[in-house]
Amino acid sequence: MLAWPQRFKFEAHTIKSEAPEMKAVRFHEYGDPDVLRHEDVDEPVPGAGQVRVRVAATTFNGVDGNIRAGFMQGPMPVTLPHILGVDVAGTIDALGEGVSGLAVGDEVIGFLPFTVDGAAAEYVLAPAESLAPAPTSIPLSDAAALPVVGLTAWQALFEHAELKPGHRILISGAGGAVGGYAVQLAKAAGAHVIATASPRSSGHVTAAGADEVIDHTTTEVTTTVTEPVDVLLNLAPIDPARFTALAALVRDGGVVVSTTVWMPAPADEGRGVRAIDLFVRSDAAQLSELVARVDRGELTVDVADRVPLAELASVHARAAAGILPGKVVILATSV
Ligand SMILES: NC(=O)c1ccc[n+]([C@@H]2O[C@H](COP(=O)([O-])OP(=O)(O)OC[C@H]3O[C@@H](n4cnc5c(N)ncnc54)[C@H](OP(=O)(O)O)[C@@H]3O)[C@@H](O)[C@H]2O)c1
Repeated sequence: MLAWPQRFKFEAHTIKSEAPEMKAVRFHEYGDPDVLRHEDVDEPVPGAGQVRVRVAATTFNGVDGNIRAGFMQGPMPVTLPHILGVDVAGTIDALGEGVSGLAVGDEVIGFLPFTVDGAAAEYVLAPAESLAPAPTSIPLSDAAALPVVGLTAWQALFEHAELKPGHRILISGAGGAVGGYAVQLAKAAGAHVIATASPRSSGHVTAAGADEVIDHTTTEVTTTVTEPVDVLLNLAPIDPARFTALAALVRDGGVVVSTTVWMPAPADEGRGVRAIDLFVRSDAAQLSELVARVDRGELTVDVADRVPLAELASVHARAAAGILPGKVVILATSV
């Protein structure tokens, strides 16, 4: 008979090996993209109000790089090791206590909380109330490209800017992932859309429905826009002086909305110009509306690249080098 310390070790080992495991990408310390490890992790078990989702895909969002690097320890504290991935598309695989209105086998999408383990894994836990039915008209994995950036565009335009038919909106940085949705949604709302985009993304922005596209790399935006706009939406990493110059294009009583929250959006109280720093939040009802538009053919989901989970570190490296081409979907399985 083993003495108790050895017996304890043996039993602990036996119990651990029986726990189902999954593949996930985690980081155990903050740092460069090479801190990301593709490794075996215990499958999560859903608690009250949660479901477990078999992940089809997550995506890369810019904030993932900042969390990994340790820059977000104040606003978004995580416990290490941590699994990234706040977008999810997948199939419900288990229900926690008290969950109603969802069933095993449902295909869903969602925007998950930042501070708990995310969807860069084969399975993830999701608050049941954060999920919306997945679109049926596009592949499930591509639908991961919708939640965070689609909700950001929706909340910028309709919650914060209160965009109305006939409004003129200038979208700075329209060539990116949020911009693609913002241009489509603003156009569908009956606005006149002026978009800034470099040559690499001008075709994309035109296809999204922009009325005017200004190449910010060759053209001075402040002199090209000759009539005031009701709304300035900034999505681009411009400097504060440029942001203030663009905000001068907003009419008296208009609004500036910004997703680049590391610098405050410039208000002009003298002219009644409001400024809003947007922090996107999860909202299943808004997400369901976006999904309905996708399935009616009114909203296009753009996926720039699809990359296996095991290669997530290379996506972070491309983002850090500034060469990521738009929304990149991370596939949890190779099938
Ligand atoms: N606060 C929040 O809750 C929240 C939520 C989502 C996203 N964000 C942030 O919002 C920003 C936009 O997100 P995203 O996913 O759309 O990013 P993204 O895909 O990287 O797009 C940003 C776009 O900015 C453009 N750009 C770069 N330098 C520019 C310049 N000097 N002038 C004008 N345009 C320039 C680029 O356009 P070209 O293609 O034309 O070069 C790029 O496509 C990111 O900083 C992201 O982190 C914040």
